[in-house]
Amino acid sequence: MAEIERHRFDVLVVGAGGAGLRAAIAAHDAGAKVGIVCKSLLGKAHTVMAEGGIAAAMANVWKEDNWQVHFRDTMRGGKMLNHWRMAQLHAQEAPDRVRELEEWGALFDRTPDGLISQRDFGGHRYARLAHVGDRTGLELIRTLQQRAVALGIEVFMECTITKLVKGDGRIAGAFGYWRESGRFIAFDAPSVVLATGGIGKSYKVTSNSWEYTGDGHALALEAGASLVNMEFVQFHPTGMVWPPSVKGILVTESVRGDGGVLRNSEGRRFMFDYIPEFFKAETADSEDEADRWYEDKTNNRRPPELLPRDEVARAINAEVKAGRGSPHGGVFLDIASRRSPEYVRRRLPSMYHQFKELADVDITAEPMEVGPTCHYVMGGVAVDPDTGESAVQGLYAAGEVAGGMHGANRLGGNSLSDLLVFGRRTGLNAAYAAARLRRRPEVGDDDIRAASEHALAPFGIEGGENPYAVQQDLQEVMHNLVGIIRTADEMEQALTDLAGLWERITRLSVEGHRQYNPGWHLALDLHNMLRVSECIARAALERTESRGGHTRDDYPATDDSWGRVNLHCRIDGDGVGITPEPLPQMPDELRELFN
Ligand code: FUM
Repeated sequence: MAEIERHRFDVLVVGAGGAGLRAAIAAHDAGAKVGIVCKSLLGKAHTVMAEGGIAAAMANVWKEDNWQVHFRDTMRGGKMLNHWRMAQLHAQEAPDRVRELEEWGALFDRTPDGLISQRDFGGHRYARLAHVGDRTGLELIRTLQQRAVALGIEVFMECTITKLVKGDGRIAGAFGYWRESGRFIAFDAPSVVLATGGIGKSYKVTSNSWEYTGDGHALALEAGASLVNMEFVQFHPTGMVWPPSVKGILVTESVRGDGGVLRNSEGRRFMFDYIPEFFKAETADSEDEADRWYEDKTNNRRPPELLPRDEVARAINAEVKAGRGSPHGGVFLDIASRRSPEYVRRRLPSMYHQFKELADVDITAEPMEVGPTCHYVMGGVAVDPDTGESAVQGLYAAGEVAGGMHGANRLGGNSLSDLLVFGRRTGLNAAYAAARLRRRPEVGDDDIRAASEHALAPFGIEGGENPYAVQQDLQEVMHNLVGIIRTADEMEQALTDLAGLWERITRLSVEGHRQYNPGWHLALDLHNMLRVSECIARAALERTESRGGHTRDDYPATDDSWGRVNLHCRIDGDGVGITPEPLPQMPDELRELFN
């Protein structure tokens, strides 16, 4: 076997979005030799799609805010399926992580008295999102990237990991390839942190770009970890719907946070018709009260446009189905009639340019057309809340690829704070564990041989399946049969279709050479996309109720007995098995916050 390029690190971070960069910085600060591998160019990450802000109870705008209120909002938004300890650590530590980011050079918008400004978002009791216009994720990435580079952390850009390697029953390292040359590369590392983000590319309409194919989810699963809460997929209520080339691109929740409202084709503010019992007490039931809330949160209730995302996405879906949609199959999002052009351009500069350039719509003068887009997966690798370690020793996960933090539905703004809080914790613990290890397992020649053979298989098949055709069929299956509204019949059909797609990917063939060959890259990604899609479909079929980002037309009610368990996916033979496991017990002092 030919010699391949090899590297040796204490901590290898896979993924260079916010979670990966924050983990790498923490591991470096803890004394570890750290490498970051990223599939794309450094800085190109889904983190930038969290545009509206970082949720943190800093109490800069509303002094009544504190971590307990943030914790409670997060648990209620997640329909109580979140891991309570993750939600607690997240709410407690987020403010420090925002302040630290500022010390590292992030430039936040300010309040009139010079504090970091905080804006309103769905499901948050108080204005809580620290922001930079509507480009917060971009500023977060810019800051972390600059710091990681300044610290001299080694980065392997445009490099994809296809296999985690184990030795002595624990993580030994990883195997992958350079996207440009197609050459293989191996990393020896006793701690591997997965920070690969989400799974959006399994769906037809998504805010995710090409990188998000569930790589970390599949790698962890196949290394022996479990995935939790995979049935919960977040459809952000507002993606662009027109023109077709930009369908799915995100329209930030900040539009609604800053006063925008949703209307149907009759001009009606329809969200008042969709206030669920669970949120009735805290949601305004008249336009007057809803509008007063922006100025006075103490005496008024939140506008229904700022219900959690799952509620708003379902409502939009229902309006379109009832024939009250916009010309291109969405609804109208109107900020033009509610805020001045100057305010819109200052608070929402990216949205202003996005609509002007991509759709020829001036959002200061006319409404936007929007509809749900697959944005985030709540499910991910089951980890220890304090350390981020999975059930596989030496394998860690942080950010979107980790499960548990958001339960059945994530509140907007909680992903940027999640990746900062748990990126840091995971990086530190991965470094400590590597330092404690007496004997490190190595990536063996046999492991490299097997991983190379698997990666090269599509070159050995002539006239087989086209990876692009298989991806398109997969996206149709997930969009049509395991989308926003689900039924048992459709999900059973989806599982049959997925089995057919599994069969087809054994016959994928690619043309040309290993040098920059996107068809080959997709052929390898499809394996991961199918793994996560199967997890989503199986878990969704198992959960016979509706909750958060999982709505069953055949089981429309939320069922208390399902509120006591999470579903875990594990490899079982050639497929995926599902096991219900009881929720971790919340301590009494936290439970009292819900009384
Ligand atoms: O709408 C947004 O700005 C997205 C934020 C998020 O997903 O946290």
